[in-house]
Amino acid sequence: MISQFNIPSTVIIGAGASRELVPQLARLGARRILLVSDAFMAASGLIARFEQELRAGGITPLIFTEVQPDPTDENVRAGVRVLQSEKCDAVVALGGGSPMDAAKAICVLATNGEPLSRCQGYHQVKSPGPPLIVIPTTAGTGSEVTKVAVITDTARDVKMMMLDRHLLPTVALVDYELTLTMPASLTAHVGVDTLTHGIEAYVSRKATPLTDPLALQCIRLVAQHLEIAWSQPDNRPAREGMMLAATLGGMAFANSSVALVHGMSRPVGALFHIPHGLSNALLLPAVTRYSLAGAKERYATISRTLGCATASMNDDEAAAALVPALVKLNLTLQVPSLSQCPSTTRARFDQMKEKMASDALASGSPANNPIVPEIPDIIRLYEEAW
Ligand SMILES: NC(=O)c1ccc[n+]([C@@H]2O[C@H](COP(=O)([O-])OP(=O)(O)OC[C@H]3O[C@@H](n4cnc5c(N)ncnc54)[C@H](O)[C@@H]3O)[C@@H](O)[C@H]2O)c1
Ligand SMILES: [Fe+2]
Repeated sequence: MISQFNIPSTVIIGAGASRELVPQLARLGARRILLVSDAFMAASGLIARFEQELRAGGITPLIFTEVQPDPTDENVRAGVRVLQSEKCDAVVALGGGSPMDAAKAICVLATNGEPLSRCQGYHQVKSPGPPLIVIPTTAGTGSEVTKVAVITDTARDVKMMMLDRHLLPTVALVDYELTLTMPASLTAHVGVDTLTHGIEAYVSRKATPLTDPLALQCIRLVAQHLEIAWSQPDNRPAREGMMLAATLGGMAFANSSVALVHGMSRPVGALFHIPHGLSNALLLPAVTRYSLAGAKERYATISRTLGCATASMNDDEAAAALVPALVKLNLTLQVPSLSQCPSTTRARFDQMKEKMASDALASGSPANNPIVPEIPDIIRLYEEAW
């Protein structure tokens, strides 16, 4: 089997890596940039810091902070209008997965034109957009190194997954110091998103010899650092470890593929407005239990890598130890069940579960799962997570 591996051509990682923004933009010949971010970043003063650095470096920033968590096609269109009316020659994303994904979509919509939904799915983007530099502030989605963007189509209430190498950032500046301000709940949600990337990349039917070591190292780092980063927000080695885990997880899953957890998580996010990391976290134990038999050796390796299996356990025992460990991790990190999320009601859940299951299946991700489900299986798994 042959496989393709794409990552940004430049990844600069470590404390202070975000200070490389001006030199990198200069290298690209950019003079006027669209800075894509969100309201929190504007209020936090971080944008002001970058604005000052950019102006001092002779670069004019046009600030666009209208990206909402789990960004929509409308956010993307608003960004394209600023990009085009202000004649920007490059784009910079500052924030979590939401600003990074919005910026990727802004870039390709600007060159390819409407409708954005034409880019949905695998390898549907015809032409590259302007250069894009991304600076993640969550650890996280791994979007800084992925050829993936997830944008909500507001007319259809669907989270569109787009995967294409034209969505790859030109440069990623991965600076864990920017994640020190993450509150505990955000640390938990994005951290379990990272873990899910590692697990799904490793058990995916499209896993490759290049993605396996990245996925396992991602899982190992999460085991070492997530609970510490969650309980001690200022712990720099833990923040650094989680940032590296997120970036490795992104490299792994974008080149092997996510599977059933992500497939089922997107409809939950789209319909109940539950953050991406949280909707993954509350599905992960049930989906893992369902999938174990399809890739027992691989799940056993994950279990050993996470430290939840002892050396004397055989593959059956090690794989079986994984689910209780994931349940315990959710309890420790105070991840609620679907029914405990403030935006869900049983009536709406019952009304929507068939649509959620069919949207999940239509996304294509469940087809990469070790056991490929049918709609009734997916509904049963949603019930389990309820
Ligand atoms: N493209 C990909 O490869 C990929 C992979 C996974 C998820 N995603 C997408 O990413 C999005 C979620 O991204 P996310 O989980 O990073 O969250 P996010 O970008 O939506 O941010 C969540 C909230 O955290 C705040 N925040 C960000 N950084 C912070 C910091 N350092 N301190 C305090 N607050 C901070 C934001 O302002 C926002 O209010 C979803 O739309 C999801 O579908 C994309
Ligand atoms: Fe994810």
